[in-house]
Amino acid sequence: MAATEVFAYAKLNLSLDVLDKRPDGYHDMKMVMQTVTLRDRLALEAGTGAPLQMRSNLGFLPADEHNLAAAAALALCRETETDPGGLSIRLEKTIPVCAGMAGGSADAAAVLRGLNGLLGLRLSQARLEEIGALVGSDVPYCVGGGTALAEGRGEVLTPLPPLPHCHVVLCKPAFSVSTPELFKALDGCRIRRRPDTAGLIGALTAGDLPGVARRMYNVFEDVLPQRRYQEICAIKNSLIQHGALGASMSGTGPTVFGLFDRQSAAEAAWAALRPLYQETFLVETAGTLMEKEV
Ligand code: C5P
Repeated sequence: MAATEVFAYAKLNLSLDVLDKRPDGYHDMKMVMQTVTLRDRLALEAGTGAPLQMRSNLGFLPADEHNLAAAAALALCRETETDPGGLSIRLEKTIPVCAGMAGGSADAAAVLRGLNGLLGLRLSQARLEEIGALVGSDVPYCVGGGTALAEGRGEVLTPLPPLPHCHVVLCKPAFSVSTPELFKALDGCRIRRRPDTAGLIGALTAGDLPGVARRMYNVFEDVLPQRRYQEICAIKNSLIQHGALGASMSGTGPTVFGLFDRQSAAEAAWAALRPLYQETFLVETAGTLMEKEV
């Protein structure tokens, strides 16, 4: 039996814009994505002689192909016509579930990277991204991670100059939001404010961290129910008061994050929010992932 361990890294949206609704029901997006060091751990085993086995430390997560990690393993074997002789996936989650940080997609992408090495498939990053797109819109980005522009459904990727290294406080309020419902809410209204994506990319190119932080914006914030929106704003205000250079919601939320150039300020923000929100984390930005593990 062959075994390996891989890590799945959370992503943040430095910006998120929704363009048009497409005939296939999805929406065209324009998002600047960033990997952070918050991560899940996955233990993969091939040649177990048993059908795909999926276990996790969270009992409520699906343990079959409805879990994106298992779906990715099945898609990889199907697309490459590989018989691994049985597979086992053991998932230890740290990234909050349904939080706007692409935790499930990151797990799927980690399975693709891990099995690529374990089974000696030698697939390129582009091929792994193609297979990832069959599993979910955020999976292709999560294969390579780093700082990137994601367009189309999320699968059309352009690498960007890396965000200057910084400290990040993540804070997930206790409520959860439904991704399809938020998209539907956006369809029913005129988007009043959009992120300055070109300006944000310009700031990345200039290595200007405060310039990036100042331009962060997510159009989904505008269509949250009023009570939810107020809670998101309260967390953003707290992050800014503690010295964040900027704060925004990630994905369809509800996680809010702040970027800090000073570790002491990030620690103070974490300490202030942690008693109020159990799922508060102090992490850092991370670079691209392919060369780390494959
Ligand atoms: O691709 P994924 O399964 O992650 O998408 C989940 C849901 O989010 C889709 O069913 C769709 O309602 C919505 N979505 C969308 N446009 C995108 C990505 C997701 O409308 N670009």
